[in-house]
Amino acid sequence: MHVEDLAISDIAKRIPTPFYCYSSAAIASNYKRYSDAFSGLDSLICYAVKANSNQAILATLAQLGAGADTVSEGEIRRALAAGIAPEKIVFAGVGKSEQEIQYALEQGILQFNVESEPELERISRLAEQSNTTARISIRVNPDVEAKTHAKITTGKAENKFGINIDLAPALYAKAASLPGIEVTGVDVHIGSQLVDLEPFSHAFAKVAQLVRDLKDQGILISVIDIGGGLGINYGEQSSEPDIVAYAEHAQTHLAELGCKIIIEPGRSMVGNAGVLVTKVEYVKVGQVRTFVILDAAMNDLIRPSMYDAYHHIATVEQKQATATYDIVGPVCETGDTFAKNREIGECAEGDLIAIMGAGAYGAVMASHYNSRLNAPEVLVKGQEYSIIRERIDFDALLSMDSLPNWL
Ligand code: LLP
Repeated sequence: MHVEDLAISDIAKRIPTPFYCYSSAAIASNYKRYSDAFSGLDSLICYAVKANSNQAILATLAQLGAGADTVSEGEIRRALAAGIAPEKIVFAGVGKSEQEIQYALEQGILQFNVESEPELERISRLAEQSNTTARISIRVNPDVEAKTHAKITTGKAENKFGINIDLAPALYAKAASLPGIEVTGVDVHIGSQLVDLEPFSHAFAKVAQLVRDLKDQGILISVIDIGGGLGINYGEQSSEPDIVAYAEHAQTHLAELGCKIIIEPGRSMVGNAGVLVTKVEYVKVGQVRTFVILDAAMNDLIRPSMYDAYHHIATVEQKQATATYDIVGPVCETGDTFAKNREIGECAEGDLIAIMGAGAYGAVMASHYNSRLNAPEVLVKGQEYSIIRERIDFDALLSMDSLPNWL
């Protein structure tokens, strides 16, 4: 198994497992799929930094022309440090703090995606105090069923995100009257890992109607941010949604409005560009199951434990025989399971294993649970590779704590 021109087994000779390994070419190809599909529209691709915020990944995307969709001061700082211009940064999230808003205003970012009335008031007040105005889009909640995992559905009325689309005109009227606010756009994001395009189409139609209604109300919208959410094929489905068809839905509903279209893809930009490379510590024959115990765990990749997510898993070397295992990590929880009853190549101690589709929401969601060191991240480009985040050592891990003076 290779990442671009490098055999994973060769990289693993130099970097102890577990580690994340990403392909620059796969990221570039994903970016190009988006930029080609949306070339008929005035569009800006704002990569959702939360999916993988390593600065080397951000710099790779920045060089291709991407902007950034951010949700915290930390993400804005990362995007700027990686060379993404402030005019290409949008700032979303339901809980923006005063400090974060202030920081974003100082940087002159493209827009705030506003999630509530009190947030709108706060942004206006802070902008006014700084003698500036904040460009805003209001994130509307279209109440559509995204048909994805409940924990990553965001566009239903009961979700914490956005403003009910029926109440949006009133909030836009208020926004237009606030001194620190410049209304520029409408924003929508209905969920993540959507494999069916129909909910997007439904949401786009509702947004288009809102933009027309706002125009009648005298409020002109020049930007429509359609969020992210396009799913990837984790190996369980036979197909994944087609970016061209997705762009066509945007075109059908939104083109005539003459607005700039912002897209916020995260997973579909980097998900299939990364694997988690791990090693078999033990093959344990249990009473009713045989376990492959890896040196990677839920602290490295939490998606299977957290969302019951399916990730394709394969031996790095091709095997003649296959066997069925529960594939687990060493953490002391039954939830530390990557796959149950999974047929893969027959495993032996020391074999390398690749957990696929780990480029998005992998390293960024990792922790040091069980006092495990982080899995380093490696970026490949052609025949070269570079460690883009080191594994910290135990001294660094222990020095994160400090003792109070009474101990
Ligand atoms: N824009 C907004 C406002 C978002 O909330 C998200 C993701 C995105 C864009 C990017 O969505 P994507 O294209 O990646 O689907 N940790 C979860 C996914 C959480 C997604 C949160 N929001 C997982 O591992 O499946």
